[in-house]
Amino acid sequence: MNNIYTPTAENIARAAETIKQGGLVSFPTDTVYGLGANVYNAQAVANIFKAKERPLFDPLISHIADIDFLSEYAITDDRAIALAKHFWPGPLTFVLKRKDNNPAIDLACAGLNSIAVRMPNHPVALELIRQSGVPIVAPSANRFKTISPTTAQHVQDSLGDRVDMILDGGACRIGVETTIIDLTGKHIVILRAGGMAREELEAFTGEKIYLSHDNPDLPKAPGQLLKHYAPRMPMRINVEADDVKADEFFIGFGDVKGAQLNLSPSGDLCEAAANLFAFMREAETHSEYKGIAMSPIPENGLGLAINDRIRRASYKE
Ligand code: TXA
Ligand code: MG
Repeated sequence: MNNIYTPTAENIARAAETIKQGGLVSFPTDTVYGLGANVYNAQAVANIFKAKERPLFDPLISHIADIDFLSEYAITDDRAIALAKHFWPGPLTFVLKRKDNNPAIDLACAGLNSIAVRMPNHPVALELIRQSGVPIVAPSANRFKTISPTTAQHVQDSLGDRVDMILDGGACRIGVETTIIDLTGKHIVILRAGGMAREELEAFTGEKIYLSHDNPDLPKAPGQLLKHYAPRMPMRINVEADDVKADEFFIGFGDVKGAQLNLSPSGDLCEAAANLFAFMREAETHSEYKGIAMSPIPENGLGLAINDRIRRASYKE
């Protein structure tokens, strides 16, 4: 069965109707494809967890198309509004304290007293949310622990008929998930490195932005598992070209020799992020290789997000 639809006005209207009626729609965003449902429909939200085979303790991000929606269920302050006005729509998710006026979203929030919200920078996503008339909760549209989808075909391959419709917006421009920041405390803490670089956040706020994985005392995102984003083959990271084994598929970065695929021959981290998940998927289809080796990636800009994903992808349970 093929569920992929071009995002014509007619198909977006049909997708919005599907959301309203409690169905699941996969849609493109600036970062990765999402698997969306009406945040207020607990049965639809439960179906997301079922389709992904994802544990219920892992909360979901709400996608909105208008900053005014924020105050409907989150407690906002000047800092959150200023960040939203500057960075939205874009690859940045906020974790804020929840208003306790909406028990219907308990499941989406996994019972936490905080909520994750973002505004995606993609015309199809924004139009779908507007026409649905409700925030759309959406995790990445892949099965739990596997590689996130950056094309409609990836979604089809991973979820197939578990989703009612897949809107095809082409390849995602950024290619790694949003940066998630915790705004519930005095300092801003990055819970998950992603498509918005820490440096850009620091430049705007003029403050140090903390990294949750650096410090066990800082808040954490419940879904950040050590093994995640995993291809079907073992993967080694920080491998120099000379150390690649004959039976390894080599994904290079920068000016390296002998790579089967190169994330960015010119060493551009944005280009590398956009290619990352698609290249990991491509590598795992080559059954003539026993594993994947990956070049070292610098730990700055989007390199933070890339290194986070490949560290988890290469984690040995
Ligand atoms: O780019 C993205 O963020 C994509 C697109 C589809 O928007 N979405 C995405 O969702 O990556 P997902 O479900 O794969 O990852 C959401 C992460 C999880 O690690 C979850 O634990 C965390 O967000 N999260 C959600 N609500 C939270 C909360 N209240 N407090 C802390 N972490 C939260
Ligand atoms: Mg995910």
